[in-house]
Amino acid sequence: QILIIDSGSQVTQLIARRIREMNVYCEIHPYNNIPEISDDVIGVILSGSPCSVRQDDAPQIDTNTLRGKLPLLGICYGAQYLAQAHGGEVTASKIREYGRAHLESFNAENPLFQGISPKSTVWMSHGDTITTLPENFEIIASTESVEVAAFHVKGEATYGVQFHPEVTHSDEGEQLLKNFVVNICGASQNWTPDAFADTMIAELKEKLGDDRVILGLSGGVDSSVAAVLIHKAIGENLHCIFVNNGLLRKNEFSEVLKSYEGMGLNVKGVDASERFYDALKGLKDPEDKRKAIGRVFVEVFDDESHKVENAKWLAQGTIYPDVIESVSVNGPSATIKSHHNVGGLPDFMKLKVVEPLRSLFKDGVRRVGKSLDIDPQLLGRHPFPGPGLGIRILGDVTPEKVSILQEVDHIFIQGLRKHHLYDYVWQAGSMLLPVQSVGVMGDERTYESVVALRAVTSVDGMTADWAELPHEFLKEVSNDIINRVKGVNRVVYDISSKPPATIEWE
Ligand code: XMP
Repeated sequence: QILIIDSGSQVTQLIARRIREMNVYCEIHPYNNIPEISDDVIGVILSGSPCSVRQDDAPQIDTNTLRGKLPLLGICYGAQYLAQAHGGEVTASKIREYGRAHLESFNAENPLFQGISPKSTVWMSHGDTITTLPENFEIIASTESVEVAAFHVKGEATYGVQFHPEVTHSDEGEQLLKNFVVNICGASQNWTPDAFADTMIAELKEKLGDDRVILGLSGGVDSSVAAVLIHKAIGENLHCIFVNNGLLRKNEFSEVLKSYEGMGLNVKGVDASERFYDALKGLKDPEDKRKAIGRVFVEVFDDESHKVENAKWLAQGTIYPDVIESVSVNGPSATIKSHHNVGGLPDFMKLKVVEPLRSLFKDGVRRVGKSLDIDPQLLGRHPFPGPGLGIRILGDVTPEKVSILQEVDHIFIQGLRKHHLYDYVWQAGSMLLPVQSVGVMGDERTYESVVALRAVTSVDGMTADWAELPHEFLKEVSNDIINRVKGVNRVVYDISSKPPATIEWE
């Protein structure tokens, strides 16, 4: 594996994703908590950082223990750190360089630059620059404005690049990373989805034996792929629970249940809508609503898990981004929304936990899902929040409002599918606003609800742009909604990016 040492850059996860895409396994660890380096580590990458190497409190990494022993690649801050820590000099640039640059010259003989084209575009984002290199370090690439765009240490496989090869704006960044990972570190590209699935199924068989396992399905990609993997390992001993919280999309409960049954999974569908509606009655504050939904989910799941006798394990669809201990160089971040709210310790939490996807990114989960022959439509589903339509109905939630919003959402999502826009959009949904407005229908005055449509493009939901959907499409959807959904007479489209807005309205 390749070890990535994270100094807090926004794009560290992209390094890992690019390497995984080459079918090579890698892990990210924070600079201040690096595990002991085992024999299976074949190379190390030092990430970028929001810090400057000139700051006193900048991330420190003991590179003496790595240099010369393992191939080493420093990216941006990582490169500056290597240069400075070994006797070179890094100073503040006159201007912060941000954006595309071109490799004006590079050493085509150097293994790091094999197959790279002249003037290749690279992505820069730095405020410091390397002005003096330590002894034995040689420049192997320069751009118009940065002399030390890349360096190599003579006689060892230590490299530094000032630009970000992991970002897709670096046109041949993937090739450069491949040169490092495959050619320089000698990685074999055999970490394929098929291989992952086979090994994981064998491991699960061994670990779970004849034990019974409980898993909460949500209809989403992660829990579904986790369920299929475990089912392949232990068959009927996997007991899945799929809870209808009354806040799902139109027909979702029955359709998803049917597709799970079609996949041969042993699933119990539990319709707990009324319990959720009761708990939500009169609640208007978004956090109160989220907490109530979280609490009832735990209660329902707890009740159901007791019905599975002798269960020993709780399986979860946790994925790698939830596991990585990412370093926040700016201190702890504020709670914007309480996503998970598990008060006390319900009985099912006392089970042993099994998480077969904890080493995978979302795209890895999809690739494994594909190799397991899971329906592509299920694998390509947009994310949908756990509290469902409950946080898309602004203000208090009632069953009547839920059915209005289900109709609106259904028209919007079907429209996206019909117009082949579904996959262009990362996530889409509609919000029922606590606002009435005047309209006219025939000769009659109406005074009805407003809905907002929201569709975003994004990579991981951390940042998002509003999707530029064609006006013709918006016109058709808006007409359909107003004509077909009783209680709605106005449709608006949300044109806010995240940040400063969020994807959901609550
Ligand atoms: P925001 O609104 O924070 O949403 O921009 C980012 C992503 O997270 C989803 N989301 C949730 N997912 N439980 C979930 O499982 C939640 O409580 C929750 N709240 C937001 C949201 O749909 C988007 O994909």
